[in-house]
Amino acid sequence: MILPKKVRIVEVGPRDGLQNEFQPVSAAVKIELIRRLAEAGLRYIEAGSFVNPRRVPQMADTAQVFQGIERQPDTIYAALTPNLTGFERALEVGVSEVAIFAAASETFSQKNINCSIDESLERFAPVMVAARAANLRVRGYISCVAGCPYEGNVSAERVTQVAERLLQMGCYEISLGDTTGVGTPDSIGRVIEGVSEVVPIPQLAVHCHDTYGQALVNIYAALQQGVAVVDSSVAGLGGCPYARGASGNVATEDLVYMLNGLGIEHGVGLDKIIAAGTYISQQLGRETGSKVARARLSRN
Ligand code: HMG
Ligand code: MG
Repeated sequence: MILPKKVRIVEVGPRDGLQNEFQPVSAAVKIELIRRLAEAGLRYIEAGSFVNPRRVPQMADTAQVFQGIERQPDTIYAALTPNLTGFERALEVGVSEVAIFAAASETFSQKNINCSIDESLERFAPVMVAARAANLRVRGYISCVAGCPYEGNVSAERVTQVAERLLQMGCYEISLGDTTGVGTPDSIGRVIEGVSEVVPIPQLAVHCHDTYGQALVNIYAALQQGVAVVDSSVAGLGGCPYARGASGNVATEDLVYMLNGLGIEHGVGLDKIIAAGTYISQQLGRETGSKVARARLSRN
């Protein structure tokens, strides 16, 4: 069994996590969380999204957040930009890079971004042009790779078709989103196998929501296939406003603990990421979603 020596962790808590919170979280708290995440060693932080604020009010202050971030060297502060309007807003506040997000399910695409998959790719085209002109890299997400909250099964072929188009458009990396967390090592493995026929494994990431408790085992399966970029969310925050009942991504603390156990380098300090998770959980007034953090904190 060959596992990657090193994994790059993409922290999505401030975006994927906080976009799904019912209670308002101030820009100041988001900025402090981002500071703590960088201090813990995370070098890629998705700090927010430039979407319609009426659709996702939790992300309405993303520009303010970017303006308040104390940037650390070698740290990427990224944002989601679904169209040119979003990209222009992102550029104004100096994002380090952006992400576009498509889906492998037509119904989810309509519900999430109000257009078909083909239309979404058309909307991304000018974002790619503008990003190239601004010298910014673009990451691509695909939602519903292992199933859709509206349509149920999604075939690996469908995911592969969307992945190929995102790659051809110029995305440097494709993150495979198990939006509802229904995947298992077998189904996620088949998706990676299919997609890797058109996207080289070093350009693939996994984005596993933990709704069914499968995230870590799915990530382990992905590592065994050579995937070395993993998305995670501090304290296991999150979900998607258009995938009801979906819980957060794998907790960054739990991912770090597993990678430590496997001897895989990642650059994140376990105690510091637990502290960052404790901070945001206290701000939200609830227990952390990280099992590792709960275990560690109960010892103190
Ligand atoms: P639209 O098709 O124009 O339609 O927006 P709309 O009715 O939703 O919005 C129209 C209004 O939004 C207009 O304003 C536009 O100007 C404005 P009005 O004339 O009515 O005053 N607008 C914008 N405002 C600010 N920033 C923008 C922007 N674009 C239009 N960028 C859009 C399309 C995609 C913007 C919209 O449908 C939307 O914001 N959807 C929310 C998408 C979202 O944030 N979903 C959650 C993130 S994705 C996710 O969580 C999945 C992921 O984690 C992977 C996984 O887990 O699978 C990435
Ligand atoms: Mg997500």
